[in-house]
Amino acid sequence: MANIPSLGRTMVEPTRNSAGPLDDLEQWDDHLRRRYPQPADAPPSAAAKQAHEFRDYRAEARPQVKEFYRQHHRHQTVDFVRAKRDEYLSPLSGTATGQMAGPRAPRRRMGVWEALEYLNTLVDDSDPDTSLAQIEHCLQTSEAIRRDGHPRWFILTGLIHDLGKILCLYGEPQWAVVGDTFPVGCNWSEAIVFPEFLQENPDRNVPEYQTARGIYEPGCGLDRVLMTWGHDEYLYHVVREHLPPEALYMIRYHSFYPAHRDGAYAHLMNDDDRRYFRWVNVFNRYDLYTKSAERPDVKALQPYYQELVAEFFPPALDW
Ligand SMILES: [Fe+2]
Ligand SMILES: [Fe+2]
Repeated sequence: MANIPSLGRTMVEPTRNSAGPLDDLEQWDDHLRRRYPQPADAPPSAAAKQAHEFRDYRAEARPQVKEFYRQHHRHQTVDFVRAKRDEYLSPLSGTATGQMAGPRAPRRRMGVWEALEYLNTLVDDSDPDTSLAQIEHCLQTSEAIRRDGHPRWFILTGLIHDLGKILCLYGEPQWAVVGDTFPVGCNWSEAIVFPEFLQENPDRNVPEYQTARGIYEPGCGLDRVLMTWGHDEYLYHVVREHLPPEALYMIRYHSFYPAHRDGAYAHLMNDDDRRYFRWVNVFNRYDLYTKSAERPDVKALQPYYQELVAEFFPPALDW
């Protein structure tokens, strides 16, 4: 097994997290775990909903998290999303609302494993011991999926689902990388976290966006809906040629909490969305609840995952 890159000791210089307000991207994931505590002894769907309803996440959220959502909700507009799609996506990457994205000049060409290493160079300013935080979350997620005997494409999805966070290394602000996702160009659902911060979003003044359907046809399908820009949508476009639709739904909508936790935006979904969305819920439990103090043995796991990556992906992709 020649040329296996060693994680955590890349040739790339570590890059500090982009400017706040979060101390690091993990702070958003930690907030999600507090907002949706792990249900105990109950069917997944019912228990998660109950636990969520009885918690006051607003009171518990740290000031940085609130400030993060304030910025996210203020800046994620139709114009911003269209600009980011133009900047990052190729013309073949989808035609949401009939708008073709402009040409994309890939910033890097690299393999999936290399992208994991690259993401790992995003280190946490506040904690010198978390230089492997990103890869550990990826591996803890994928290993839990593997332990439960799920198909190989599902295990691989667990490994790669957050690779879109390399957007931070391209200089994107945190609010354009992480955060709950939701459609722009139509009414905001009340299920969106910290809805009060949407008051500052300039889309509020566009009459066309103020109805439930907004700029979309009812039942048009989420593929034609412009979602807030972040790591989910970006990664979907990078890997969309190589994974089955269930995996692509998990990747593209894993932060779409208003829909997969609260059933919002059902009026924009089509049959494909309804069919595949249940996989997002299955995946979400692994994403949120597999964080543990036990650190995965990256070196020992590497050969298995390199083989798995090679089964589905070519040696290099455009990022
Ligand atoms: Fe994520
Ligand atoms: Fe994740």
